[in-house]
Amino acid sequence: MGVQPAVAQHETASDLVSGGNAFRQYCANCHGPDGDLIAQVDLGHNNFRQPYSDAQLVGIIMNGIPGTPMPSTPRITETQAGMLVAWLRSLGEREASLAGDVARGRTIFEGRGECLDCHMINGTGSVLGPDLSSIALVRSSDELRDSLLAPSAIVQPNNRFYSVVTKAGEAVTGRLLNHDAFSVQLLDQNQRLRYFDKSTLDDFGFSDPDMPTLGADYSEQDVADLVAYMASLRRGAAQ
Ligand code: HEC
Ligand code: HEC
Repeated sequence: MGVQPAVAQHETASDLVSGGNAFRQYCANCHGPDGDLIAQVDLGHNNFRQPYSDAQLVGIIMNGIPGTPMPSTPRITETQAGMLVAWLRSLGEREASLAGDVARGRTIFEGRGECLDCHMINGTGSVLGPDLSSIALVRSSDELRDSLLAPSAIVQPNNRFYSVVTKAGEAVTGRLLNHDAFSVQLLDQNQRLRYFDKSTLDDFGFSDPDMPTLGADYSEQDVADLVAYMASLRRGAAQ
């Protein structure tokens, strides 16, 4: 029986994208977006419990690990599994060049980053921006990095900013909580819940998000540290 090499030697960028998509489709709900949600198992940092070959990893994906909760994935093809493995390996390589320090990241977050001015973590901070207490459960490190370096690219619909001007001339900008044909509810800059009847408004609409882009005074290391800290935030996850 001829054995095909499971992983092409030179996977293309689009293979890696397919591998990442397959991971999100078949694996991320258990292993988390970065592959390290299950205690003692870390798929995304080239930190496997054994020095598996690519072919062995493909075997694990297709057949599961008998006697454990790691299931087989009957719908995945061997080619897709190979792309998935290549993607996991590429994550590990990227990570190695940018190892962040959780404690240092936290110091920046709470100190000169002034992130708590807008974000809440485990009950500390502000509700102006999204609560980040369990952000690692829904965002990969790559996405977290993007939200620091290109914030307007990633706006969650329920995190959008909205501005109104009342007929009395008051201008209020805040995080949109709810709106319909007749009314708007905002959380204003002083974190007060504001309710407006649209008939009392001169003007209203979405405004640009206020998440500041990190300035040039942040080094690559600072960014990696912040990302490492946020990637550790997973309140409520079964560990
Ligand atoms: C139903 C939840 C679940 C799903 C879905 C799942 N896994 Fe797992 N996986 C586990 C658990 C739990 C373990 C640990 C098993 C053990 O106790 O040895 C594991 C272990 C592994 C291991 C062994 C890691 C090591 O260091 O030994 C690999 C590799 C792995 N999973 C890859 C994947 C990939 C890739 C996918 C998607 C194709 C996937 N898993 C889907 C739950 C899951
Ligand atoms: C002036 C307020 C403000 C400050 C200061 C601020 N943020 Fe934000 N941040 C926001 C808002 C608003 C959003 C949601 C809209 C968006 O994504 O642009 C957001 C989004 C985010 C997201 C994406 C959340 C998601 O759901 O994907 C991350 C991660 C984040 N911020 C991290 C940080 C870090 C780290 C700092 C400090 C260096 C920081 N923010 C400083 C307002 C702020």
